[in-house]
Amino acid sequence: MQALRIDVRSSYEMQRIGELIGKAVQGGEVLALYGDLGAGKTTLVQGIAAGMGVDARVTSPTFILLNEYTGAAGRRLVHVDTYRLAEEIILAEAATFGLEDLLTGEFGAKDVVAIEWADRIEALLPDDVLRIEITAGDDDPDVRTIRMTASGERSTLLLENLQI
Ligand SMILES: Nc1ncnc2c1ncn2[C@@H]1O[C@H](COP(=O)(O)OP(=O)(O)OP(=O)(O)O)[C@@H](O)[C@H]1O
Ligand SMILES: [Mg+2]
Repeated sequence: MQALRIDVRSSYEMQRIGELIGKAVQGGEVLALYGDLGAGKTTLVQGIAAGMGVDARVTSPTFILLNEYTGAAGRRLVHVDTYRLAEEIILAEAATFGLEDLLTGEFGAKDVVAIEWADRIEALLPDDVLRIEITAGDDDPDVRTIRMTASGERSTLLLENLQI
């Protein structure tokens, strides 16, 4: 399976979908999140963290590029948010944090990287990435559509393993 579309009706459901993703990851996946302000990217990542067995409260990294969380089975969730950072800072910080290594597949086999506003570092993304686009509905403010597209072996496997 290469693509999947899901309609969700509440932030609770968004978290539940995130949990299913968090349970299905094996490590080594890059999840690129797209969507406007308040679309639900962080909400989804909170669910992913829960699904990976992260105990800590997940908030968006605000004045830094990324937060790291340890989940079950030694898996690590790396949560990146590029929104508030200028492009030069992103690139400089990317080098400092080894983000380029993370994104070019040099990362630990147990790491999962989730990136909010991935469009801002599109050029840094690896070939194998699961793109997750969240859009709001026109009428009901709580309705969102999630579109997932896989572009490689790992991301395709993740979509296939999703129990939705
Ligand atoms: N179906 C839904 N899915 C996700 N969030 C929803 C939904 N319905 C309502 N919400 C609300 O929308 C808001 C989403 O905020 P969230 O921080 O997850 O968005 P974001 O995409 O990360 O925004 P930002 O671009 O500022 O980082 C939350 O207040 C949440 O409660
Ligand atoms: Mg956010």
